[in-house]
Order: sequence, then structure tokens, then C-alpha cells
Amino acid sequence: MKHLIDIKDLKVEEIDELIETAKKIIKNKKKYSKKCKNKILATLFYEPSTRTRLSFESAMLSLGGQVLGFSEAASSSTSKGETVQDTAMTVSCYADIIAMRHPIAGKPEEASKVSTVPVINAGDGSHNHPTQTLTDLLTIKSETGRLDNLTIGVCGDLKFGRTVHSLVTAMARYENIKFVLISPDELKLPDYIKEEVLNDSNIEWCETNNIEEHIEDLDILYMTRVQQERFEKREDYLKLKDYFILDNKKLKNAKKDLKILHPLPRVNEIAVEVDQDPRAFYFKQVEYGKYIRMALILKLLEIN
Ligand code: NCD
Repeated sequence: MKHLIDIKDLKVEEIDELIETAKKIIKNKKKYSKKCKNKILATLFYEPSTRTRLSFESAMLSLGGQVLGFSEAASSSTSKGETVQDTAMTVSCYADIIAMRHPIAGKPEEASKVSTVPVINAGDGSHNHPTQTLTDLLTIKSETGRLDNLTIGVCGDLKFGRTVHSLVTAMARYENIKFVLISPDELKLPDYIKEEVLNDSNIEWCETNNIEEHIEDLDILYMTRVQQERFEKREDYLKLKDYFILDNKKLKNAKKDLKILHPLPRVNEIAVEVDQDPRAFYFKQVEYGKYIRMALILKLLEIN
């Protein structure tokens, strides 16, 4: 049985296969509409979510399956002191597959150790978010035609942003990828990712706190919000929250075929005026998220 806890749990070929399956689903949705008949997905969300939980649920419903779960820890037995292991063992009796989000890094992995059904990490603390990365990769592949030979700017909260950690780890495995890491000093990409992922893969990367400095080089600009809920002191968040605001002016020198992505939710980091720019793909990205999760559910349930 396979779980998805870290994007590295998938080989590059498996990621490419998932992308191909998602593209087939997009072309022929009807063909897939009963594939998960009699299957149940449980969404166990101990942390707020709009897109990830609803896209998992929409994905399962679109495959003809059913869904159950909770969307906050307070409404589950966690509030009585139950561990994620016990919850996972219990839910394994009710569902065929589990998607779990948790504010503490490593909790979905702990659940996967005892679960008798596949567990998908739907975001754990400021650690990883592999299904957002699959979404990002499907978006990049569909909109640029490739996952290699790209200069990717990642901007915002690179310290606490789990989507960034998983994205950098995944893209570092493709050919000729360059990263421009754009963040304030306080929110730089953690050293372990620079060392274990970027340097070990001989990836070209640089750091800056100026979004306009490299904008003309970028094929992809991945914006992220400052992760308010991870700060110990509110004043530190307030100081940094509006550090980057992408607007039309800052995009002046950007490539005509730049793709602007964002895992969402957006707070202030992209001005609403940018939504009209043909290079803005963040709402299209939401749609891709559903199809790649359909592909992932089929893979983990071993349904062709
Ligand atoms: C992200 C997350 O939860 O990490 N959202 C999402 O799943 N699309 C990004 C974020 O919350 O900033």
C-alpha cells in the first residue's frame, strides 16, 4: 500500500504519469465518473482549508465515490485527547483513503504508519504539501508544455510556506531548472532545503529581496502569502505581511509568456488588478488541483 506524505515518495516517472492521467480526465470526464463507485474518501482536516479539502471532496465525488470527514479538530475526538494514530486506525474502518491536514509537521506520516488505507498529506505545518505541488506541476506542464528548462521565481514566505518546500523539492529533479528565491531576510528558504535539495542537485539558485531585480528572467513567478499562523509574535507578522505586493507596475519588464501562480489563499501579495493580466494563472491552477487529485486517488486505490 502506498501513501503520499512527501513529494519524494513519488518517482519523477510517477509524477509524469499522474499528470498524463489528469490530462486524460480533463479530456474525458465522463469516462472517469464511476471509477470510484463504492469507495469512500475521508478528509481529516485539523487546520483551516478551502481549496484543498473541497478539491479532494470534489475529486472523489466526480469519480463517483463518497466523502466523509471533519474540517476542524474541535469537532473531532482530538478535542478529547485522541491521537492521530488512533483516529487514523478508526477512520481506516470507515473509508478507503484518507486525506489529512495537520498544523504539526509529521502528523500525517505518523497516521500513515498505522492506517490500513492510503494516507495523503494535505499539508503538515510549515513542512510539506505534496498535492499542492502536483497541482502546480500540472499547471506548469499544461500551460508551458514543459517541466524542464525553466527559471522559477518563488516569492514571499519561503521559510514557513510548505507549498514552496514541496515545489522546490519536486522541480529540482527536472533538467535545467533555475530558482530565484525572493523573500525578506526573515523569511528565507530553510538551509536544509538549500543544502539537501538545491546544492545536492547542483541547481543554480540565487536569493534576493527585490522582486523587480530578476523579473525579466522568469518563466514562472510563484507568489505566496506570509504565513500568519506560524509566527510566534504578531508584530513580526505585521512587519512583513505587505513586504511584496505584485502589481502591474512590477510586471512591466516581465516576459510576455510569464506564468503567475499562487497556491491561494491570497491576502495582499497580488493586487487584484493583476487578475486581468493574461499571465495570471492562479484561478486556473485551482481547477487543475481537482483533476490531479482525481488522478492521485485512482493511483493510490490502484484503479485504472
Ligand atoms: C496553501 C497551504 O495550505 O499551505 N494553501 C493551499 O493548500 N492551497 C497555501 C497557504 O495557505 O498559504
